[in-house]
Amino acid sequence: MKLQNPELLQQANYWDGLWRQSNSGETIEVKNPANNALVGKVPRMSRAEVASAIQAAERALISWRQETAQKRGQILCAWADLLLQHQDDLAEILTTEQGKPLAEAKGEVRYAASYLQWFGEEAPRNYGDTIPAAKPGQKILVQKQPIGVCGAITPWNFPIAMLARKVAAALAAGCTMVAKPAELTPFSALALALLGERAGVPAGVFNVVTGDSAAIGDEFTENPIIKKISFTGSTRVGKLLQQKSATNLTKLSLELGGNAPLIVFDDADLTLAVEGIMAAKFRNAGQTCVCINRLLVQQSVYDEVMQKLKTAVESLIVGDGHDEGVTIGPLINQSAVEKFQRHYDDAIEHGAELLCGDGKADGNFVKPVLMANGKPNMIFAHEETFAPLLIAIPFATEEEAIRIANDTPYGLAAYFYSKDISRVMRVTDALECGMVGVNETAISNATAPFGGIKWSGYGREGSKYGMDEYLQVKYVLLG
Ligand code: SIN
Repeated sequence: MKLQNPELLQQANYWDGLWRQSNSGETIEVKNPANNALVGKVPRMSRAEVASAIQAAERALISWRQETAQKRGQILCAWADLLLQHQDDLAEILTTEQGKPLAEAKGEVRYAASYLQWFGEEAPRNYGDTIPAAKPGQKILVQKQPIGVCGAITPWNFPIAMLARKVAAALAAGCTMVAKPAELTPFSALALALLGERAGVPAGVFNVVTGDSAAIGDEFTENPIIKKISFTGSTRVGKLLQQKSATNLTKLSLELGGNAPLIVFDDADLTLAVEGIMAAKFRNAGQTCVCINRLLVQQSVYDEVMQKLKTAVESLIVGDGHDEGVTIGPLINQSAVEKFQRHYDDAIEHGAELLCGDGKADGNFVKPVLMANGKPNMIFAHEETFAPLLIAIPFATEEEAIRIANDTPYGLAAYFYSKDISRVMRVTDALECGMVGVNETAISNATAPFGGIKWSGYGREGSKYGMDEYLQVKYVLLG
């Protein structure tokens, strides 16, 4: 890895303002998914060490919550600036540990910075309320106070942005945080911590620990100091965290799996629709929670859409994310490749028509696949694929499209293309999900509430709603 600032690659954990190794000396190896080369090692912290980090966050909470919101905001904005200044190095780290093309990695760094900036600016706007009281002579005040020490568990697919959007909201609200990044991609999180330290985040306010997911998850849910956990990851783990959080009634935000439909109606701008499909399906090689999993195309425009898509999918370039022009990097590991192949084989076996790609893998690299004649009973229609496999299902009527779109236990994002305003209102109302993109698939940004319903979880990230997740309401009656 060629870094202008090699110290950004930290092979240590950060808590209470110090960089540390585990007492046992045990480490976790991190491999580059493009070539399986060793990127580096991070400590495998014991539960007792994670508990020490949590105690540090509790000590830091006392002064951080009393700091002015302006000051907290200034630190977050300075942190955002540092991310932008170091975006080339941060993108290099991200591509090396995660695989996505460098241009996408830089985009992710800017996306991460946008959360720090937005919440930095929002921190001083954490207003309360006064409410006309029920009795004469009284007043009701409503204050929003930081919930306390928070745990964050973040995924490998957006290793810097997902953590930035959690820590930005938490710190703006006056909370402190202990974060556990995915074992596969810890270096982006550790670089984020280093830049936070340089931006002036006080010791103990933001801490990063690496180690076994189950052990750290247990510590987060069983340690009564942790008042809130924000998790992005699988529905299976989200459900487990909810069960375990019953012990302390720990508040949760869960951003879980999805199975996003995208519907192309016959009145749509088809060129725009194809651009949107390509952007949303193949971002990060299809490894995005809000990726399209089911493409529904109305029969009268089906052939035209499939032809345009075939041309677009064939133009994608697979390779090492560091190489010029590459648009599809490797999948994260072999189990991701196996899932891709399982969905591919099932669709072929049940009669889907292959238009491009071949379902074969070279290491963690797979060619993007486009298939026609998908059916709602195929595996991809029920399970998140998380790979560059796009299967289209033809439909006849609006009612049928909505029925298929909602036929999933997940409810994160949904998209549709139509120029008919009455249809836009009807379909928007009918879709069961937390986010709808209408004639647009780039729905994620710091100003908007990101999150799902059903098995895609609950809670929102980004926007004023994201801040509320880290606040608790205290009502005061003045007699
Ligand atoms: C995710 O895949 O979890 C989030 C992607 C995004 O923020 O757009």
